[in-house]
Amino acid sequence: MLEHDTTATPPAWREIDARSRALGFDMPSEAGTGAMLRLLAASKPSGRLLELGTGTGLATAWLLGGMGQGATLVSLDNDAGVQAVARAVLGDDPRVTFVIGDGLDHVRAQPPASFDLIFADAWPGKYEGLDATLALLRPGGLYVVDDMSRQPNWPEGHQPRVDALTARLQSHPDLATVALDWASGLVIAARRS
Ligand SMILES: C[S@@+](CC[C@H](N)C(=O)[O-])C[C@H]1O[C@@H](n2cnc3c(N)ncnc32)[C@H](O)[C@@H]1O
Repeated sequence: MLEHDTTATPPAWREIDARSRALGFDMPSEAGTGAMLRLLAASKPSGRLLELGTGTGLATAWLLGGMGQGATLVSLDNDAGVQAVARAVLGDDPRVTFVIGDGLDHVRAQPPASFDLIFADAWPGKYEGLDATLALLRPGGLYVVDDMSRQPNWPEGHQPRVDALTARLQSHPDLATVALDWASGLVIAARRS
């Protein structure tokens, strides 16, 4: 069986993980998700990346670990308390801009076809405003969601939402989509045109 290589974990991730536990942050993206995000970020060396739902910055650390020096990342959350951890650990990296605000408002304010990778890890961009979010992808741009396999903390009645999102992505005429039984369950889509 192939094992996830934990020796390659970004050093900043360990620091954020420790602070997240101390804070009691209970919505972390898994390390396996992070490793996939790092790979995908590395495929866009001068890319413009968007993360909806910074949390404490666990996934942000992986994205930055894959990004080239010419790439940039906007990471947004509506909770300044949790994002403060990401700012404290990652804020000196000039490639990342942290934003506090509502995810959907932010998506609606962006020009179409302006991002090369979007990691949608908040309600907006995933279960709300999906079309507006997908419209932000440039041709060849990647859209990534995690927590698509059943999770213990899912609210009642969440499975149909997940199924509907997966079906919309898989049937979208402008997307090539794959659903992966990897980490917490990933769906990754690439815009064809
Ligand atoms: C699943 S967590 C993100 C975890 C993050 N990927 C990590 O690894 O730390 C979802 C985040 O979305 C944020 N969020 C929830 N609703 C939001 C909204 N309407 N706009 C922006 N962020 C939102 C929450 O505050 C939370 O930090």
